[in-house]
Amino acid sequence: MTSFLLPPSDDPIRPAEASGIRIAVDGRPVDGLAGQSIAGVLLGSGTLAWRTTSKNARPRGVFCGIGVCYDCLVEVNGQRDVRACQRRAADGDTVSTQYDALPEVAEPIELPGEADGRA
Ligand code: FES
Repeated sequence: MTSFLLPPSDDPIRPAEASGIRIAVDGRPVDGLAGQSIAGVLLGSGTLAWRTTSKNARPRGVFCGIGVCYDCLVEVNGQRDVRACQRRAADGDTVSTQYDALPEVAEPIELPGEADGRA
């Protein structure tokens, strides 16, 4: 089914009639509409990135929007690693942005053949 086949009266998300919700993102109130994903609420508020990569701290938000890339991870109501594009926002949700540093490597691992240049 395409969006062209769905009559507006049957659309479950009708912004003109949808009730408003409010979530807290890192303690900041953000308003959205019932039925929106957390990513949708964030994008609607003008937030394009809410996570940084472990390496080089590059900004990330929605990339695929279909739950495949995991670029949109947030913590929701204490649950880590929630895909913001897949989680429907509920009024009162508490969302925290995530940053996870790369694990420290205690000692470099020498691979077989590395010392004599065969690797
Ligand atoms: S944007 Fe790709 S998993 Fe959410």
